[in-house]
Amino acid sequence: MKILLFGKNGQVGWELQRSLAPLGALIALDHDGAPGLSGDFSRPDSLIATLDAVAPDIIVNAAAHTAVDKAESEPELARALNALAPGVLAREAARRGTLLVHYSTDYVFDGSGSTPRTEDDPTGPLSVYGATKLEGEALIRQSGCRHLIFRTSWVYAARGGNFAKTMLKLAAERERLTIIHDQHGAPTGADLLADVTAHALRATLADPALGGLYHLVAGGETTWYDYARHVIEFARARGVPIRVALDAIEPVATSAFPTPARRPANSRLATDALQQAFGLILPPWQQGVERMLTEILPN
Ligand SMILES: NC(=O)c1ccc[n+]([C@@H]2O[C@H](COP(=O)([O-])OP(=O)(O)OC[C@H]3O[C@@H](n4cnc5c(N)ncnc54)[C@H](OP(=O)(O)O)[C@@H]3O)[C@@H](O)[C@H]2O)c1
Repeated sequence: MKILLFGKNGQVGWELQRSLAPLGALIALDHDGAPGLSGDFSRPDSLIATLDAVAPDIIVNAAAHTAVDKAESEPELARALNALAPGVLAREAARRGTLLVHYSTDYVFDGSGSTPRTEDDPTGPLSVYGATKLEGEALIRQSGCRHLIFRTSWVYAARGGNFAKTMLKLAAERERLTIIHDQHGAPTGADLLADVTAHALRATLADPALGGLYHLVAGGETTWYDYARHVIEFARARGVPIRVALDAIEPVATSAFPTPARRPANSRLATDALQQAFGLILPPWQQGVERMLTEILPN
């Protein structure tokens, strides 16, 4: 079994290098590729030669244009990375009988309402990022290839920068913090995404009828405000020097922080379909966040 992974050094790609390793021979590429192998999604057609050379049984795509605000000013590049390149991979996967695994986002929705969105709910992206990710999904589904698409949200990893690390830095420096309280979602660890991907991949290889689109986020829900408070109080309880007092963390509306890209207020995703199809449990978001904090905080 040969697995070709794109985007190996991203948050999810890094964890996939670990979780996919026991499933088969893993060829993992970053943006720069490897000798004779292109991993550059800004040149979608260059990926075909990579598929010819590797002849994978499974393609896992963790590469994407994830700079949500930047995408507003470079929509063509965002479209190439998030839609056209996955479309080429899907077309080739269909032709070769390869299984394609891909990730999408809560940003395909318009964020209205307050109930968790299911896979069948109508989409309505508010941003270039969301629209290009939705087009990527559509190209994969229309290609006829065997696929697993996981829509996720609020991804973090111990490696690299993340919201929790930013909050800890600010909480150590400042006496007051203002955090958005009107966006709702579930922080989801790249490690959880990678582990669930490996389980779902194995199950889908055994039973191809399991292929399709699934929502995949950690259990429960929160806001950026409550997420920040949880992180800061966890760190304070572990003796980390924190300057900001709990009552000096102020909830503010999204409108207080204007950004080029609009974000959905309701990023809740219903995961019943995934849990039932694969017999998996998605642990509460606090479990993964606390584990990540335990890894990054000094003992
Ligand atoms: N992050 C989130 O909160 C979030 C939320 C919902 C869904 N998702 C989805 O989850 C998936 C994984 O996201 P992530 O958080 O792991 O993203 P990430 O950490 O930003 O990683 C994205 C990867 O894409 C690669 N990339 C950028 N330009 C490329 C190009 N031209 N060709 C090939 N690769 C390129 C980057 O490589 P270089 O560093 O080498 O450029 C990086 O390794 C994506 O599909 C994303 O849309 C993410």
